[in-house]
Amino acid sequence: MTDSAMPLPIADSVPSLRAQIALWKKAGDTVALVPTMGALHEGHLALVRRAKAVCAKAVVSIFVNPTQFGPNEDYGRYPRQEAKDAELLASAGADLLYLPPVEAMYPRGFSTTITVDGVSKGLCGDFRPIHFAGVATVVAKLLLQGGPDRALFGEKDYQQLQVIKRLVIDLDIPVAIEGVPTVREADGLAMSSRNAYLSPAERAIAARLNVILGEVAGRAKGGEWPAQAAQWGRAELEKAGFTKIDYLEIRDAESLVALERLDRPARVLAAAWLGKTRLIDNRAVG
Ligand code: PAF
Repeated sequence: MTDSAMPLPIADSVPSLRAQIALWKKAGDTVALVPTMGALHEGHLALVRRAKAVCAKAVVSIFVNPTQFGPNEDYGRYPRQEAKDAELLASAGADLLYLPPVEAMYPRGFSTTITVDGVSKGLCGDFRPIHFAGVATVVAKLLLQGGPDRALFGEKDYQQLQVIKRLVIDLDIPVAIEGVPTVREADGLAMSSRNAYLSPAERAIAARLNVILGEVAGRAKGGEWPAQAAQWGRAELEKAGFTKIDYLEIRDAESLVALERLDRPARVLAAAWLGKTRLIDNRAVG
């Protein structure tokens, strides 16, 4: 058995997580945290590999966070496969799996919610009103529980990444936040745990999302007004067979404010439905 195939050590409480990280730090090791909700795919494993490239130790948390799901969302059916995830993480070189029970994250009487204004508004924030407060609260807790030097997040959840960057600046949390480029299937579909919900017919349409975002970015870069390029993109998504479009917009790449003209780094972001599955994706403009 090679080292990478060894079973992954698990911490299932805040004290056990802290004890292991304290030992590593005492030995002079840097520590990276990769927060996840499990149902891991190649996109998560890319985060782990990057974590190991920049820090001596990589901790991965798996916690399906109830507070970031709305009442009619997929918390109950979100895929859970911890044993398989642990094997994948061991082979990607992770050093510790943090599996907190719900009571460790939200003990009886829990009453604190962190809301990040500004970047949480608009885009997904309009359609998932409690989502980013749930994300900010759980990520702040994970960062304070583990005290990592660095934490890594996928760019696929681009608005989430900007929310978390703002959160650590505003609350002086001493951690470097790194966004890692989206990992895609061969046809360009962004990897996501929710892709598992798609029927074969929906899966074929899903690949059009990334293509259309690329075309919208090209149009805006070629001189079309951002609003006009975005409108074209929404019509293309409809033609492709997306059943509902929450948004497709071109925004400032950092603050996510709406852009009238393309006079700074920008991002095209979209959320669209195929039946009961909501897909999100984004691309740099230019
Ligand atoms: O991106 C996710 O998987 C989740 O939103 C996160 C960051 C782990 C918080 O629950």
